[in-house]
Amino acid sequence: MNGAFSAVETIGEVLARWRQMLMAAGVEDAEWECALIYSELSGIRHTELQRAAAAAPEVVAHGDLWVARRLRREPLQYIMGHAPFMDFELEVTPDVLIPRPETELLAEALIRDLPHGGRLLDVGTGSGAIALSVAYARSDITVLALEVSEAALKVAARNRARYGLEQTVMLRRSDLLAALEEGEQFDFLAANLPYIAEEEYAGLQPEVRDFEPKLALTAPEDGLALILELARQAPPHLKPGAGVIFEIGWRQGQTLAKALRRMGYCEVAVLRDYSGLDRFVRCVR
Ligand SMILES: C[S@@+](CC[C@H](N)C(=O)[O-])C[C@H]1O[C@@H](n2cnc3c(N)ncnc32)[C@H](O)[C@@H]1O
Repeated sequence: MNGAFSAVETIGEVLARWRQMLMAAGVEDAEWECALIYSELSGIRHTELQRAAAAAPEVVAHGDLWVARRLRREPLQYIMGHAPFMDFELEVTPDVLIPRPETELLAEALIRDLPHGGRLLDVGTGSGAIALSVAYARSDITVLALEVSEAALKVAARNRARYGLEQTVMLRRSDLLAALEEGEQFDFLAANLPYIAEEEYAGLQPEVRDFEPKLALTAPEDGLALILELARQAPPHLKPGAGVIFEIGWRQGQTLAKALRRMGYCEVAVLRDYSGLDRFVRCVR
């Protein structure tokens, strides 16, 4: 024994130490993330953390491991295993895209505008974010959620079970609309499909490029190939007057709007997100 002992850190000291490391690694919202890590591992709400209180050693040890993963730019949502969306905490794994706050605008539009008793088709459901949040808010509607990735469908199924939505949300494996049966028709089509151009992939932030599934991110033809193909396949499966909404990249609005008009869709409108950027194209069959 050398007589030395390490003093127990306070919560404030632990948070400051983690914050410094994360900031040095280029993590943008380091302060917020450190509070979230301590809160998640301790069960203490982040607003109630007592910075002068002694930190719990097991929380610090576990948190040090999480911070080490975060230093390699793994998204905190994958480390924690869940992410918020609308009223939900959804399970997320590296098999699914982490749902983005912008997509909540799309879900809100569907909750508002789906006709009573209507049927929604969600293409590329991933974690199930859109399908589940809309079905949860609108118990009168039903949803068919399609997804090409078997692994993502398993995550969506666990999220569906977690919120008890097995009766109203159906999940089906499908490459775009290939698995739809003849005559299956819907009142609204929603899709947040991959829309990032292949050329932009290398320049994405490391959290996205190195950890989120590429299958959920990129598409050929400047990112628009999948959305355009879906728009071509959709008409036989849309009731007359059915609504359609696509999430898009901020530079794609006008190109997609023009293409949709040429395909015969009407009332085509480009809508913006919280930052004032073009983010959705909406139209009517
Ligand atoms: C941008 S993510 C969106 C996930 C989820 N809808 C959301 O908003 O968080 C796109 C999803 O489309 C799926 N996908 C990619 N190509 C597809 C295809 N050809 N047919 C169906 N789904 C596809 C991906 O696996 C991924 O889950």
